[in-house]
Amino acid sequence: MRHLFTVIKRLSNKAPLRAHVLRPLKASGLVWESGRAGDGAGRLVCGSSPGALDKVRGQVEVREEFISEAEESALLQELEPGLRKKRYEFDHWDDAIHGYRETERVQWSPAGGAVLDRVRGVAFPGGGPLLGPVHVLDLDKTGYIKPHVDSVKFCGSTIAGLSLLSDSVMRLVSQQDAADWVDLLLPRRSLYIIRGSARYDFTHEILRDEESVFGGLRVPRQRRVTVICRNLPA
Ligand code: OGA
Ligand code: MN
Repeated sequence: MRHLFTVIKRLSNKAPLRAHVLRPLKASGLVWESGRAGDGAGRLVCGSSPGALDKVRGQVEVREEFISEAEESALLQELEPGLRKKRYEFDHWDDAIHGYRETERVQWSPAGGAVLDRVRGVAFPGGGPLLGPVHVLDLDKTGYIKPHVDSVKFCGSTIAGLSLLSDSVMRLVSQQDAADWVDLLLPRRSLYIIRGSARYDFTHEILRDEESVFGGLRVPRQRRVTVICRNLPA
């Protein structure tokens, strides 16, 4: 059975995205976000220019160590049985995602539910209707997510993801000017939030292992499981 989000990605992937050629990161060309207290931005966000960072200022956030190792284990224990029943999908060339399996979850254990309440508390502080099922995406070590924009029909202005099992690099590229890009280092057990124009006007992608470099620093990719909360369109 195709899950909702597979369908979403297939739809959104049909949008005429500018082909994005991955460029080598040159440390000299990087600009580091100065960061605000508590959001980890100082070390975890960099971009092609001050202008590129300005475009997403206040709309991207990475919170390091958002969950403990014990919480990560509890979440995985809860998710593994469902994931193990599925096979990784590699061969759908038109999918936005390569090497993945996925599921959705509505009911959580008390431990999982408590973590998700914390995610929702920081990502959706104003309340508002959320997409009921939480999206769980399991990327194989060789898996990656191509540049895409989440469906505006099904998803609202905010996307919040917990990264389990692996560090990774998320790249945002301006749809207006592909020279403007911003990279987020997503450490294992961190939470990222992308909102507003960072979500609508930039594509996002998760780099494959061979290209997984942040600010000149190699970020080896392992199998990675993301737990993603979204709100509904206004
Ligand atoms: C998605 C997506 C990012 C992630 O599923 O649409 O962009 O962190 N996921 O897994
Ligand atoms: Mn997405």
